[in-house]
Amino acid sequence: MNRDEIIRKQKEYIWPSVAHYYADPLVLERGEGTRLYDTDGTEYLDFFGGILTVSAGHCRPEIVEKTSRQSATLGHTSTLYPTEPQVDLAEKLAQLTPGKLRKSFFTNSGTEANETAIMIAKIHTDRQEVMALRHGYSGRSALAMTLTGHASWRASGTQILGIKHAHNAYCYRCPFGLTPSSCGTACAKDMEDLIRTSTSGKIACFLGEPVQGVGGFIIPPPDYFRIIFDIVKKHGGLFISDEVQTGFARTGKYWFGIEHWGIEPDIMVMAKGIANGAPMGATVATSEVADSFTGLTISTYGGNPVSATAALATIEVLEKCDAPRRVEALGAHFLGGLKKLEEKHDWIGDVRGIGLMQAIELVKDRESRDPSPEAAVRLFEETKKRRLLIGKGGLFGNVIRITPPLTVTKEEIDEALGKLDESFAAMA
Ligand SMILES: Cc1ncc(COP(=O)(O)O)c(C=O)c1O
Repeated sequence: MNRDEIIRKQKEYIWPSVAHYYADPLVLERGEGTRLYDTDGTEYLDFFGGILTVSAGHCRPEIVEKTSRQSATLGHTSTLYPTEPQVDLAEKLAQLTPGKLRKSFFTNSGTEANETAIMIAKIHTDRQEVMALRHGYSGRSALAMTLTGHASWRASGTQILGIKHAHNAYCYRCPFGLTPSSCGTACAKDMEDLIRTSTSGKIACFLGEPVQGVGGFIIPPPDYFRIIFDIVKKHGGLFISDEVQTGFARTGKYWFGIEHWGIEPDIMVMAKGIANGAPMGATVATSEVADSFTGLTISTYGGNPVSATAALATIEVLEKCDAPRRVEALGAHFLGGLKKLEEKHDWIGDVRGIGLMQAIELVKDRESRDPSPEAAVRLFEETKKRRLLIGKGGLFGNVIRITPPLTVTKEEIDEALGKLDESFAAMA
């Protein structure tokens, strides 16, 4: 089928609310490592990785080989029967995760994994109230949309009761108008006031992303989560770390994002990079929390042997290349290059990043810091012309998100930096 036919069918048969990047959508056909190819065979450097999902590179041969073999051996069982890939994956997650996290429940997506996390927290604490973060993104179910702190992603208006949103640590646009050097992390301390004034004081849990992804790669200061953790614990709540974007070495140095803040969560939520694109969500809890759910639950596709095999094979690739260390080094190199672009191009208000989760926040001018979603649209078109794929996010749609597969090379990062530089120059 040619490109025009695919676009025609998309318009005719897919819900129009499914948005695409670019004025003229890109129809992709094939992938290999960090490269993607469209229907005309044009090659692109993929620096968004299927929204931080293709962690080990497109069509990585070891993963393809293992999942193909598993598909031909046993493709589906449901959670009613134990299988080797599922228990092996659960064991691996118990080994990789920090603290006492031990038992997993598998689903198909980050949304379901977040649903599961909130459900077990409510069951465990026998409480209903949930604390989330402004600018957070949690998925597309009714509960996940209510947890989300972006009006644009809550568009259905469906609401679940009992969720309150605390301040995030958006230092570039501090909600209190303060600066990091002297603010005393007021945003985190406000959690106490929020619980005291907007809840019964008895909360079930807090759920937050260590680095907000859709929110525009917002990286809290070193003491932020410790303050939040202590307040949440004081009020009897569980701490849930949503690692859907930050998991599996994406932030470098550690396997999971929250480890940068020295926090041991009660529950961790994973998806995206866990299985290199195969549908897989995991909710990992301490035994104490997991064991408190004594009722029946089932997920028809949860822990599917092919997806579990994909996850095991992906983790093996990441372990073999020592992803935490490699991503830390590559991330520092990338950030250095982006900071140089910041010096050159006035569109750039802020550059921030951790590991291979790098962001450029675009502004109308540096003084006002007014967000420029228009500049993001222009940069997208210019980078597309130069065959570089990037992502977008932020409350105002003005934050460029750059997240190549974790197997990217230093040379490819330099290639992307060159293309970004040329694209900014073309916008001037
Ligand atoms: C932090 C976070 N949590 C949850 C989700 C939802 O995951 P999914 O799209 O797999 O349902 C996302 C998706 O972008 C996410 O970024």
